[in-house]
Amino acid sequence: MKLLVLGGTHHVGRAIVETALERGDEVTTLNRGLSRPPAPGVRALVADRTDTPAVAAALAGHEWDAVIDTWAWAPRVVRDSARLLEGRTGHYGYVSSRGVHRWPWPADADESAPLVDGDPESDDSADYAAAKRGGELAAIEAYGERALLARAGMILGPYEDVGRVPWWLRRLEKGGRVLAPGPADASLQHIDVRDMAAWMLQCAERGLGGAYTVAGRPGEVTIGQFLETALEVTGFDAELVWGPEELLRREGVWLGMEFGLRFPHDPAPTGMHDADVHAAFAAGLTTRPLQDTIADTWAWLQAEGDPAPRSDAPSPDTWLDPIAERRVLDQL
Ligand SMILES: NC(=O)c1ccc[n+]([C@@H]2O[C@H](COP(=O)([O-])OP(=O)(O)OC[C@H]3O[C@@H](n4cnc5c(N)ncnc54)[C@H](OP(=O)(O)O)[C@@H]3O)[C@@H](O)[C@H]2O)c1
Repeated sequence: MKLLVLGGTHHVGRAIVETALERGDEVTTLNRGLSRPPAPGVRALVADRTDTPAVAAALAGHEWDAVIDTWAWAPRVVRDSARLLEGRTGHYGYVSSRGVHRWPWPADADESAPLVDGDPESDDSADYAAAKRGGELAAIEAYGERALLARAGMILGPYEDVGRVPWWLRRLEKGGRVLAPGPADASLQHIDVRDMAAWMLQCAERGLGGAYTVAGRPGEVTIGQFLETALEVTGFDAELVWGPEELLRREGVWLGMEFGLRFPHDPAPTGMHDADVHAAFAAGLTTRPLQDTIADTWAWLQAEGDPAPRSDAPSPDTWLDPIAERRVLDQL
């Protein structure tokens, strides 16, 4: 395919670009050229997407089979890109989020669960859920059934800059007694970024549109398996000390928040790790073993060092106060 990736240098976009190149696709990216140099073999267009005339000029004279858009902010930007590209590319894949569903998420929710309101014309990005829904509506407005809305759950794997797996790996690396968020058998539903990328590219190739929840099968992985596997894969000498949920809450430790296992305002969030993903699997999604996700994330961290933290990701201080952690460990 001739593929255009809007973004293409951070976690999801970078995985899409690399997966596409491995498949033999001809890849163009469009971004500001600020974050990292384009991958070898990629044609890089440079423009600020908030500047629509600049984007129009950068895209002028080109055509693609498909475009994948990783934008997470003002929906108006997706609207402008989709309008500019409509007629010059057959398929618009939008990297969306399960966040478009109205909170609290029902247990076992599928794509039909209630949605937040979104406005494709909006220039506002303060409300993440509304911005993502606005982005979806903008893609649909221009592309109709040719728009793919890939509503990702928690995305893990190499290049993750949200601070989930990299944070845990660095923490386990320090060794010693490490407080872990119990219960160990709590389900952790995630998608490896490369599996999501491969699936979105397959959909683009087949011209498949529609809304899909994109995540691994519920119940397949637990937080206990995640942390044990991280120790196995890395060989770190750390002892996991499982803190019961009630004790963590009492002591004000929100560990697990980084994975959506608990939140200060809602200690028992529903629907986070039990999404119904039948539709995406029926449409060809495949997932790799957890070991590969962790091992490859660790290999990347060792090779490239820690990524710059995202300004829109919560700081680890939100979920772990070292003094409170010490208090909890002393009780266990
Ligand atoms: N992480 C999760 O668990 C999760 C879950 C669900 C959905 N998602 C979705 O996954 C997506 C994340 O995508 P990502 O990791 O590839 O990228 P990202 O970090 O959201 O976006 C950054 C990309 O966009 C470019 N960019 C930023 N501002 C720009 C501008 N004004 N004009 C042009 N380009 C600009 C950046 O390159 P330059 O800086 O060089 O311009 C970079 O390539 C988001 O849409 C998010 O909503 C994530």
